This record gives sequence, C-alpha cells and structure tokens, in this order.
Amino acid sequence: MRRGKLVVGNWKMNGGLEANASLLVALLAGWTPSAERSLAVCAPFPYLGQVRDALTGSKLAWGAQDLSPHSAGAYTGDVAGAMIAEFGCRYVLAGHSERRQLHGETDALVAAKAKAALAAGLTPLVCVGETLAERDGAGWQTVVGRQFDAIAAALAADLARVVLAYEPVWAIGTGRTASPAQAQEVHAFLRQRLQKSSAEAVQVLYGGSVKAGNAGALFAMPDVDGGLVGGASLDAVEFLAIAGA
Ligand code: PGA
Repeated sequence: MRRGKLVVGNWKMNGGLEANASLLVALLAGWTPSAERSLAVCAPFPYLGQVRDALTGSKLAWGAQDLSPHSAGAYTGDVAGAMIAEFGCRYVLAGHSERRQLHGETDALVAAKAKAALAAGLTPLVCVGETLAERDGAGWQTVVGRQFDAIAAALAADLARVVLAYEPVWAIGTGRTASPAQAQEVHAFLRQRLQKSSAEAVQVLYGGSVKAGNAGALFAMPDVDGGLVGGASLDAVEFLAIAGA
C-alpha cells in the first residue's frame, strides 16, 4: 500500500540561528497537519539541536543532510547516524547529487550510508538522478537504474524502509524543472523496480527546482509521492504553498 505525500525541505548549507528561528516559527504557524501530507526539514548538523527544540511535539519532522557510513571512531569531521538520531531526527539524506559530485560519493558509499542510517533507526532519504550529459549520453535509465540497483542490492528486504528521491541533476538549483511527464516517466521506472523488490510502499519524491507554481502538477503524477525542495524551502510562504500543493 502506498503512503501519503511527503514534502522535505533541504536547507543545504544555508541558514543561521536567527534565520532558522523565524523560518521554523513561520512553518509551525502555517502548517496544518493532515493524514495525507507530511512535512520535514533537513538542516545543517550544527542546527539540529535548534530544530529539535523548535519542532518537538509538533507534526513537523526533521533530519540531517548526510551521515558517515561508520558507527564511531577515527573519522575526523564525520557525523554518525547515532549522533543524528540523538537529536530526534527521523530522516537523513544519503547520496544527494551535491555529495556525489563534490565529494566523489560512489553508489557503494551511498548504499553503505543508507545502511548505516537504518542501523541508527533513521529513515534514509536516498537520492538518485542523472546529469544532462548522462541523459543525452548513456540515458537516464542506465544511470538511475545503476544507482537504484546498488541501493537495492545492499539493503535487500530493508529497501522497504527507505524514501527515494529522483533528482535530475540538471534541474537542481537551475530553475529548470523536469516536466511532470518527465518526472512521472522516471518515477514509474523506479516504481517498477521497487515492485520487483517487494518494496512498492516506498515513497518516491521528486526534487529539482520545485516551486509553488509547479508543485501541484508534479505531485498530481501517479508515481510522484511528494518533493525534496532545496532553494524554495528557505522561504516559509513558498515552502508551505508547496507542502499544500
Ligand atoms: P532545488 O534543490 O529545489 O534548489 O533545485 C533540490 C535539492 O537539491 O534537493
């Protein structure tokens, strides 16, 4: 059985104590919880305590943007899943394209991070997506299929416990969104692979320049279960409009 829609804000490396406080107050004031819609924000590590203090007891969930594949030890600068879980996080992103591109994260590392998240009691929000060169070259099916298969192979039956996000790299922060039909095509492809793994209940979010003006059409697609929102999640009015779209 499919779940309701989920909209997750990815603040990326943005924010500050003051800006976060106003954003969180505005989200709490403007969000009307419903059974069909869930809302979450993924904040930078230093602000997880602030987000927890603001959102505890509310219907908004929160998460982090990355984690170490290791549980503890000599990994300077890294953050373990258990540490993130201590701050009340429900979600953690794994394999965001900015991590894959700027930090050389491989499919195997992303799968290891997703596993580490589950071991810490977190729900990994695993991102997949092709660049424009890959779309024009090998094709999105090859790239997204390879990224998905790496996660499915590593997680096996636990694949049912993740959230997936399809984020075409050419649409992230570019203002160039995939059309609803383009998103649906890839989501249907992922849905088919999920069904083969008996994990059809997994939510598959779309990300890449989601705005209030295009969210409704994207979320209306049968296999789009919500959105992963970057830039627009920093504006409470815009983000709430997306959440309600
Ligand atoms: P964007 O980012 O909404 O700013 O395009 C999406 C993401 O990177 O998750």
